[in-house]
Amino acid sequence: MSYTAYEVKDFIGTLTINRPEALNALNGELIGELFKTLKEIASTDLRCLVITGKGEKSFVAGADIEEMLSLAPSEALEYSRTGNELMNVIADFPSPVIAAVNGYALGGGLELALACDIRMAAENAVFGFPEVSLGILPGYGGIKRIVNLIGAGKAKELLFTARRVKAEEALSLGIVNSVHPPAELMSDVLITAAQIAGNAPRAVRNTKKAANNVAGLAAPHFTESEGALFKECFGTMDQRNAMCAFLEKRKPVAFTGI
Ligand code: CAA
Repeated sequence: MSYTAYEVKDFIGTLTINRPEALNALNGELIGELFKTLKEIASTDLRCLVITGKGEKSFVAGADIEEMLSLAPSEALEYSRTGNELMNVIADFPSPVIAAVNGYALGGGLELALACDIRMAAENAVFGFPEVSLGILPGYGGIKRIVNLIGAGKAKELLFTARRVKAEEALSLGIVNSVHPPAELMSDVLITAAQIAGNAPRAVRNTKKAANNVAGLAAPHFTESEGALFKECFGTMDQRNAMCAFLEKRKPVAFTGI
């Protein structure tokens, strides 16, 4: 079974993350498929790429918590590096990328949406960084991207509280470009994609590069310091306690800082 589906029509590609049984959470195999597909299609004459999640409930519910639970600190560093590389492939994709956020965009799922150029959300979309409630931090470059997008004050409030934000609030915070009735999301996204695809392809691609080069907006690259901070959270009692609790569908016991 494939965790991704890809189709192209009129120079517009649609890449669907297809793991609805786990709310499209990103596991290693899925991440490998995304790298492969993105590499293959980057050299085609695509004029716009749409990324969405399979089903009506979730865009991407984050990195796979079951996979992360037992990571050793050194493995967590590699995990973060790989995730950062994937997000940078999306951010640096030659043509514009639209995230069609059709439900939960949490943790690594929000980081993925933030790596896209434009975010269009369904009314039922939910955004948030639950990481600190899982004993870790967003490890896929999303901290820099959310700070760049909405400013440090608003970003830090979301990052520190782990609270979930509905689509309308995400719009007012500047996280998403627009909000749509769920049944109209894809058709509205395709209208925007067609507007982009109707413009001169080289001009659009070069405009994306120029926009990404503007100070503070360039695709952030993996830094050892960010990786080290992510790594340091792994193997702690708080991380194991919170991730086990999620998988066992119960509340974590009180955090201790150990
Ligand atoms: N990893 C692994 N499995 C996940 C998952 C995730 N991130 N999110 C959901 N699932 C699985 C659930 O375990 C469940 O599986 P089973 O049916 O086998 O029990 C299935 O998807 C459906 O999920 P729920 O039963 O929890 O659905 P719900 O409607 O009650 O809740 C939800 C939906 C609020 C999104 C909830 O699933 C949730 O909180 N998910 C986790 C979100 C999260 O914390 N994401 C961040 C991960 S950390 C990260 O991404 C760090 C990073 O930067 C690397």
